[in-house]
Amino acid sequence: MNKARHIAIIMDGNGRWAEAQGKKRVKGHEVGADVVKTITTYCSNNPEIERLTLYAFSTENWKRPRLEVEFLMKLLDRYLKKELDVYLKNNVRFEPIGDIRAFSTSLQKTIKHVEEKTAHCDGLVQSLALNYGSHNEILRAVNKLRNCDEDITEQMLSNALDCKHDIDLLIRTGGDKRLSNFLLWQSAYAELFFTDTLWP
Ligand code: FPP
Repeated sequence: MNKARHIAIIMDGNGRWAEAQGKKRVKGHEVGADVVKTITTYCSNNPEIERLTLYAFSTENWKRPRLEVEFLMKLLDRYLKKELDVYLKNNVRFEPIGDIRAFSTSLQKTIKHVEEKTAHCDGLVQSLALNYGSHNEILRAVNKLRNCDEDITEQMLSNALDCKHDIDLLIRTGGDKRLSNFLLWQSAYAELFFTDTLWP
């Protein structure tokens, strides 16, 4: 494999992990958020890794029970507010991908605040995929380019995507062996690694 400069992870298995401990499913998300911190710190200390892109909330996740969605929104807000210092300490730049316009105004504000405050960091780039789905990302990119007079090239489409960087290694935890609408364009040449280990 080429060097794993850009690692993407589908973090799956939070609910099953919690249920196996006799806990509520949302507890799995809470512990899952702690693991996001651990893996980000790990990657930020490894100079070979330039980017870490994590599937935190998909366009399909809105179909989950209302209380679980609300919990995930609050958790994300809390996580970002708390992690800002850790991002700065570890020189990590936060770059969200996905269509965050669907989130509440206050959550959008938190996301943009952390993005702006870490914009000068030149170590690891951590991207959280938020209200993200590849189909939605590609559609938005095509719409951006639709008034273009010339023929659209691969490079033009790639530049119009939220995530403009090819993936070297894509990991999915939780046992399923599929991509679930995550970074389909960017994973064209990625090595895929599936593990039964649950994300927490
Ligand atoms: C699915 O587990 C995982 C998600 C909904 C996305 C990942 C979310 C987190 C790691 C927590 C929040 C992250 C941040 C950054 C605050 P699942 O519930 O589908 O697990 P299951 O397959 O066992 O049901």
